[in-house]
Amino acid sequence: MKFPVEITVNGVKRRSEVEPRLLLVHYLRDVLEITGTHVGCETGICGACTVHLDDEAVKSCMVLAVQADGCSVTTVEGLASDGTLDDVQQGFWEEHGLQCGYCTPGLLMSAHDLLRKSPNPSAEEIRRAINGNLCRCTGYQTIVHSIQNAAQKMRAKKPAAAKQVQPAKLRTSKRKREQRRPATV
Ligand code: FES
Ligand code: FES
Repeated sequence: MKFPVEITVNGVKRRSEVEPRLLLVHYLRDVLEITGTHVGCETGICGACTVHLDDEAVKSCMVLAVQADGCSVTTVEGLASDGTLDDVQQGFWEEHGLQCGYCTPGLLMSAHDLLRKSPNPSAEEIRRAINGNLCRCTGYQTIVHSIQNAAQKMRAKKPAAAKQVQPAKLRTSKRKREQRRPATV
């Protein structure tokens, strides 16, 4: 049995019929063919599949596509605009925050999530924020430098807009997804 879902992905409304067991990461990659989000462990450990769901970083192998019904999803493809890297991508580029790049889409999304909540994070805060994103080849030092570089760029552009996110907003977002959880899964 399939369920209809409507999910806004990178600003575009997408309608599909999906099985209730379909993971969000497979919906993105296999149904929509948006393949920038990677699959690593499928058990919520590696973070390669991290996307934003209603502006909150989630591991898309831990979310069913039907739970994202009515939500907005941003993937790594939604970061650059008109072929120009965004500040976090540029930070990774300048500080050599990647080698093979397999973990990079997830790290970029986690970094964005952190910088939205904490525009001037300490190195320790960055390490805590990315502890759910495993990288097997770059080493974390340059990844931390990349996120610090990105934070600097973002603060330079929007000093007045750098506000802490209210925790209440995040709780509301989580509650909304819980309410959408279908009874059959
Ligand atoms: S594939 Fe989702 S956390 Fe590893
Ligand atoms: S850049 Fe290769 S796994 Fe992180």
